[in-house]
Amino acid sequence: CGIVGYVGPRQSQDILLAGLARLEYRGYDSAGIAVIDGDGALHSAKKAGKLARLREELDARPIGTGTTGIGHTRWATHGGPTDLNAHPHLADDDRLAVIHNGIIENFSELKAELVAEGHGFRSQTDTEVAAVLLGREYRAAGGDLVAAFRAVARRLEGAFTLLAMHEDHPGLVVGARRNSPLVIGLGEGENFLGSDVAAFVEHTRKALAIGQDQIVAITPDGVTVTDFDGNDVETSPFEVMWDASAAEKGGWSSFMAKEVSEEPEAVANTIRGRVHEGRVVIPELDGLDDLFADISRIVILGAGTAAYAGLVGKYAIEQWARIPVEVELAHEFRYRDPLVGPDTLVISISQSGETMDTLMAVKEAARLGARTLSICNTQGATIPRESDAIVYTHAGPEVAVASTKAFVAQITALYLFALHVARVRGTMGADDQAAQIEELSALPDKIRWVLDNEQERIEQLAHWMADTRSVLFLGRHVGYPIALEGALKLKELSYIHAEGFAAGELKHGPIALIEPGQPVFVVVPSPRGAQVLHSKVVSNIEEIRARGARVIAIAEAGDAAVLPSADEVLRIPLAAPLFEPILAVVPLHVFAMGLAEAKGLDVDQPRNLAKSVTVE
Ligand code: G6P
Repeated sequence: CGIVGYVGPRQSQDILLAGLARLEYRGYDSAGIAVIDGDGALHSAKKAGKLARLREELDARPIGTGTTGIGHTRWATHGGPTDLNAHPHLADDDRLAVIHNGIIENFSELKAELVAEGHGFRSQTDTEVAAVLLGREYRAAGGDLVAAFRAVARRLEGAFTLLAMHEDHPGLVVGARRNSPLVIGLGEGENFLGSDVAAFVEHTRKALAIGQDQIVAITPDGVTVTDFDGNDVETSPFEVMWDASAAEKGGWSSFMAKEVSEEPEAVANTIRGRVHEGRVVIPELDGLDDLFADISRIVILGAGTAAYAGLVGKYAIEQWARIPVEVELAHEFRYRDPLVGPDTLVISISQSGETMDTLMAVKEAARLGARTLSICNTQGATIPRESDAIVYTHAGPEVAVASTKAFVAQITALYLFALHVARVRGTMGADDQAAQIEELSALPDKIRWVLDNEQERIEQLAHWMADTRSVLFLGRHVGYPIALEGALKLKELSYIHAEGFAAGELKHGPIALIEPGQPVFVVVPSPRGAQVLHSKVVSNIEEIRARGARVIAIAEAGDAAVLPSADEVLRIPLAAPLFEPILAVVPLHVFAMGLAEAKGLDVDQPRNLAKSVTVE
């Protein structure tokens, strides 16, 4: 869910709606706002569906003015996406409004307690329980909203960010956070709250990160942050690096089209400042040489696309830094009593830095004594704050729900990490390091080559394939995670059945799926870089062709061996084998996007998904 709050001299409705528009990628089942005017009258509106529905509702039935406000865009957990279940929720006296992100795990117990006291409920949400509870505590605290909020926060279990405001206190928005995200934006005579900085970056680039289990109160002239017991706590101010226009669609048809076009820059910006005199030196990892020298294994955690980036990272880290690497889905790791300890470095990968599955896995790893490193694209996010070390990817804001440019930036960060650690551990000679850096630095231009030369043809192919019911993806070695990513992207964007397989696994089962006309994308390794792998994959192509598959090969420009056996060949420039994934994935991103567009689907906000899933 996305959350925004405002206090200041301006009318809040437009500020809230603009903030929600920037946060809509966090959920778009329903949206709502509440405002309080100077006389202390609370007005609210909420609507199932995307933000546009709420805007229509506000145009048709304006709710009145107010310079204090909160807004919410929802990804449903408790209770379906209906008008009634949308946020804000009001306390039972209608004088107090609450919005919430997360899940309150003890909500049924609290609800029973409140029902027994005679309180009524209008929705099925856990949030309304928090609203009614806050109303009760507010009366008990004699009208002290912050004290009441603390009392409520102490009673809630689970993950939450809550914002609230009360008719008696125009000019005050109170927030509480446990695990779910919340950031403060500091303006002149006005202040903001948001799930992330995108909510307010067009108004201010001065921000304050809030820690776990903290309560924040914002007024037009000040901000106070305390723990749940009311003790003052330290906050960490930071300057937002993104500018507002970076999160605008510009002239592009979709955020995704823009973000795919930014893949070259995402890679270049992630490398920038981390290469010195033919060596990779990541300044953020200063002082950790002993750690890297001592660890005996690495576990990489992530969810969705991020986990596939981790799989690519495994090959690079093992080959260059000679440390065994396991890659695991964060949600599987956490609950299986994992064997990690002080000899283990746990690397989490997350674009948003808020994915609850990943956050919880990182906390579990830390509890077991492992050292933790976060690869993340979002400043001030929770996962980097909970980690011992951070390597930011500099892909810029990614708004489309399905990840594209962040994926290539994550892989780049993993290459850099692997080269950095290889240097520290002395597992790689200086010449080899320099040669790899040269390859790495050439990637942005090579990605641009793919977009310039192949994008149109791929889009056309996607158009022809708009009625396809199922697509398979094959890859081997570093091409394997790319096959998985190609399939995931196609599922996410175009709702087509898609599966990725390791090419060698084909004959052990998936080949039974091949029937005449079945489209299969095959990521073909370079014949120059990996001759053996190349010929194995070409044999795999022959095997499926013999059974009628329609083969679309992603192959190096100049690889003549695939020509006779593939129906279509999508070209990528020559690169050393470990770097091929970052090029091979580009046609697959373009294809998934093109096919969804051909079907008339919303590529930025696919059904049922949310970009930052802050529930487990
Ligand atoms: C969601 C998105 C995926 C994304 C995953 C991990 O499920 O729909 O596209 O890959 O979260 O997100 P993260 O922010 O942790 O990288």
